[in-house]
Amino acid sequence: MKENSLNFPRYNRKKVFITGGSSGIGKATALILARSGADVCIAARNQERLEKTRAEIESEKIRIDQKICMMTLDISDKEQIFHTILKVIQDLGGLDILINNAGATYPGYLADLSDEVWENLMRVNYSGGVHVTRACLPHFIKQRSGHIVNMASTLGFMGIFGYGPYTASKFALVGFSECLHQDLLPYHINISVVYPPDTDTPLLHEENRIKPAETRILAGNLKVMQPEKVAEIMLRGILRKRMTIIPGTKNYLINLLFRFFPGLVRSIMESDLRKYYAKNPI
Ligand SMILES: NC(=O)c1ccc[n+]([C@@H]2O[C@H](COP(=O)([O-])OP(=O)(O)OC[C@H]3O[C@@H](n4cnc5c(N)ncnc54)[C@H](OP(=O)(O)O)[C@@H]3O)[C@@H](O)[C@H]2O)c1
Repeated sequence: MKENSLNFPRYNRKKVFITGGSSGIGKATALILARSGADVCIAARNQERLEKTRAEIESEKIRIDQKICMMTLDISDKEQIFHTILKVIQDLGGLDILINNAGATYPGYLADLSDEVWENLMRVNYSGGVHVTRACLPHFIKQRSGHIVNMASTLGFMGIFGYGPYTASKFALVGFSECLHQDLLPYHINISVVYPPDTDTPLLHEENRIKPAETRILAGNLKVMQPEKVAEIMLRGILRKRMTIIPGTKNYLINLLFRFFPGLVRSIMESDLRKYYAKNPI
């Protein structure tokens, strides 16, 4: 069978664990994987939403013996993570791919954001990914194979007004992934980092309610992607063992531009901000 956006036969019988699999990009990924014959386990905090999504994923299975399971898990709680991962590996009968996708955001004027926001985003987006990865490592190292996927963001390679805590947490996750890549080389464990632009999910809808006007102006330069498209590009990138996966053409070009001409990108953003302050003095 040929690969297409709805079906990736090479994932047939792969065992995949997705944090944040009950919504948005994680859910879109789980649905494609189920249609491709993978055994899938999703995790998140809200049990009701998990159960609803699990039923949707179940209805996409293509094999009678295909396993679709769910775990209630808060990745900011380190104690919960270690025994949950053991249960995931037991329920799936192994593990081939971990997708560290769960994440949170809270944009705002940096001086106004509370300690709780600064600490929580680091706990979820950075430490959560680190601890879930560390809990899976003994299994991957023992089987001498595996693939770990960390969900960063456009804000994992550049900063944008109002996203301080989120950007810092995604940069930290990217730094961790860079080292992990080299550390795990002898064990044939692959690492991918995904850098999506704004994607049409409940997370984006929620942050759109509270974004400062300046953030709206700068972030509005990138087209909003659909979660299904991000999931498809990520799944293709994993099959190709890509370390860096950048969904969206404009997002990709901005990454290149920022990498080679960071001063130019900063001055374009600063000029947009200056125009805004000229019309709206503080
Ligand atoms: N949407 C975008 O514009 C965008 C752009 C770039 C990168 N991303 C990244 O993509 C990933 C997925 O985001 P999304 O847009 O698909 O968001 P979403 O639709 O809001 O989904 C987030 C998922 O993460 C789970 N989650 C949140 N906090 C958690 C925690 N502490 N423990 C366990 N699960 C948790 C949520 O379920 P519960 O609330 O029930 O726990 C949900 O399943 C995130 O890492 C995000 O930073 C998103």
